[in-house]
Amino acid sequence: MAELPAITFTKLEQPAKGNIIVLCNAKGKFAASIDSALVKSLNKITKIADFTGKIRTTLECINPTGTSLQRVVILGVGDVGKLTDHDWMRLGGKAFKAASAFGEVTVIADLPGNSAPVSAENAADFAYGAKLAAYKFDNYKTSSSKSDSGKPDKAKPALKMSIATDNATNARKAWKSASGVADGVLLARDLVNEPANILTPKEFANRAEALGKLGVEVEILDQKQMSKLGMRTLLGVSQGSALPPFMAVMQWNGGKKKEQPIAFVGKGVTFDTGGISIKPAGGMEDMKGDMGGAAAVTGLMHALAARKARANVVGIIGLVENAVDGKAQRPGDIVKSMSGKTIEVLNTDAEGRLVLADALWYCQDRFKPKFMINLATLTGAILVALGHHHAGLFSNNDELADRLFGAGQVTDEKVWRMPMGDDYDKLIDSKNADMKNIGGRLAGSITAAQFLQKFVNDVPWAHLDVAGTAMGSPQNEINRSWGSGFGVRLLDRLVKDHYES
Ligand code: BES
Ligand code: MN
Ligand code: ZN
Repeated sequence: MAELPAITFTKLEQPAKGNIIVLCNAKGKFAASIDSALVKSLNKITKIADFTGKIRTTLECINPTGTSLQRVVILGVGDVGKLTDHDWMRLGGKAFKAASAFGEVTVIADLPGNSAPVSAENAADFAYGAKLAAYKFDNYKTSSSKSDSGKPDKAKPALKMSIATDNATNARKAWKSASGVADGVLLARDLVNEPANILTPKEFANRAEALGKLGVEVEILDQKQMSKLGMRTLLGVSQGSALPPFMAVMQWNGGKKKEQPIAFVGKGVTFDTGGISIKPAGGMEDMKGDMGGAAAVTGLMHALAARKARANVVGIIGLVENAVDGKAQRPGDIVKSMSGKTIEVLNTDAEGRLVLADALWYCQDRFKPKFMINLATLTGAILVALGHHHAGLFSNNDELADRLFGAGQVTDEKVWRMPMGDDYDKLIDSKNADMKNIGGRLAGSITAAQFLQKFVNDVPWAHLDVAGTAMGSPQNEINRSWGSGFGVRLLDRLVKDHYES
């Protein structure tokens, strides 16, 4: 991973020295606390450059007259009264980008227009955005390979970002939590970005097990244990792979004793060749990311444990590879799931639902959760419907669906509810078994959701199809990585807003 910025919170001292970032509002005003000689100089510069303080615009000035500063980055924040939590994150991301080459920078965290300090939460969100923006997946670039700048990437020292505010003590507290959640997002990104020769089901299980250091209880079920439990649909997917399957069961018990847990379940196909119903070669490399759901669940467990969330939370991930082999499952095979229902596997590439069928059933059967939310890079069809900007949301429970929608709006990890209903169930009726694993050309994401619903047994449940959002989504101020970590911030927020005591 690229060097993350070292972020500290310090007391505001004027006049500032070295390299600084100052905020400028839509009226072109700076904070009243900023040294008047500097303001005079900056006013002149913004006038010449026609800088209007529009949100997320920046202007870099070298050694402004009348000051001994090296560099000043003016960061537009628009109308300060209208800034959301997510806006503060994006501003932090912008600030990181503008200052990443400086070595050291001080952010004057005082609001333009008056001299009130930025609130502790907003200052922490700013830092949170800067940390996420700094992430780059470069584990496999040796120091001899050059970056865009022509210098070896690794030689670039981490940025030291000091956020100067009179709210430093409270901001530091808020940052402790936010930084832990950011680590969860970055863990999820790392897992998605790792190639499938490195991130095997076993290696993924090891990385889940490492959450033990944060106080998460982790059990790893192996093939024998899963076989004993009757997880034949999950094992059917894995049977063509040389790599053994695993299931990780993670528990964070930060809530009241004996309180019913909430549960998250993830599809963890470490590579999806399609199996015997093999995928075309072009773009198949992207299927190293077919464990984006499991990555989000693991990142979420990290986040919740790191910020010591007051909730009892279960995370379950099914880890398999879908490979092609003489032992692989065939189209037409009929398998009996752990629930007892039988499935005719008409397409071995519709494997995610087979993994989840047993994982969901096991989850509700063992934990009797308040609700279950599963995440999966389940269908190409969700990309056709929603593109990269919304995950598909399917649910049997309006309250849960509404809460997820709301969390999506505030975190900008947006979800869009899709319809479900008995009519669609007919599309997965099978001639030879209780159901088939594909529904035909139409409504592909919905028939996949209908299939999953058969294994949730009336528990309040939501399915997030993250095939378009977990990977390959467009870059933005807080993400420059292929694997986005989608779902960690969304679900952390859902838990925080509705399920903590
Ligand atoms: N992992 C894929 C879905 C996917 C596609 C994820 C593109 C990310 C990007 C899934 O296992 C799959 O192959 N689904 C099939 C289902 C079909 C055979 C019914 C699909 O979407 O084509
Ligand atoms: Mn597939
Ligand atoms: Zn898949």
